[in-house]
Amino acid sequence: MKKGALIFEGNEKQVFATDHPDKVIFRYKDVTVAYNNVKRARFIGKGALNNQISAILLDYLNRNGVETHFISLLSDQEQLCRKIEIIPLQVVVHNRIAGSLAYRLGVPEGFRHANTIVDLRYNNDDLDDPIINRDHAVALGLATYQELDGMYDCARRVNSLLKPFFHQAGIELVDMKIEFGRASDTGALIISDEISPDTCRLWDEATGERMDKDRFRLDLSRVVESYSNVLKRLKQVTEQ
Ligand code: TYD
Repeated sequence: MKKGALIFEGNEKQVFATDHPDKVIFRYKDVTVAYNNVKRARFIGKGALNNQISAILLDYLNRNGVETHFISLLSDQEQLCRKIEIIPLQVVVHNRIAGSLAYRLGVPEGFRHANTIVDLRYNNDDLDDPIINRDHAVALGLATYQELDGMYDCARRVNSLLKPFFHQAGIELVDMKIEFGRASDTGALIISDEISPDTCRLWDEATGERMDKDRFRLDLSRVVESYSNVLKRLKQVTEQ
């Protein structure tokens, strides 16, 4: 696969064209941003860790009947992915209350609830990724009601697959953000962004220690060490 021109550059990722019209190369950078780009740092090795962690999780979903954009790992920081048309929505699944949801609902972080909570956010930096509902998404022309039904169902299915997968690694999947796109070849709605410690909250089941981007957000140190621990444990699960 020949690497072509840079077609997108985000804070934490680059996307390159290839000589195949429906395939792109994702490159995971060592940059980390939080609070809508207010906080930024570089962690050597983070890109390679997220590339590998995301590959394990997306491959696991592909093999369990959930279509994602992931095709194969190419190098330390790069993976081959299906090209998609971006849908600027984030579907956020919460298994336990943490982060801004704790403030929003007025409950302490770590609050346990029996149901699964699904939030919808409009992926728009200028507006600070506001929480919206399905009617807003349809009004803005971002997706149809049918597509939104598909996204919610898929997000719940991803959660029901990844929660036990992380559990086998001794990690609690507290919440995660999922993004979808329309595949350029088939038009199918598929998962189209990374799933990693940058986009999930992951707590060590034994100690409660945070193993995700909150280490950076909250200045808890040992960011790369924690991501590396997540990868080591997921590898142990997949190699069983
Ligand atoms: P959410 O409750 O939506 O916001 P906050 O991070 O303010 O608590 O976050 C839930 C999960 O989604 C969390 O693991 C971080 C992730 N997330 C992203 O990866 N990108 C984003 O732009 C947002 C808003 C959240």
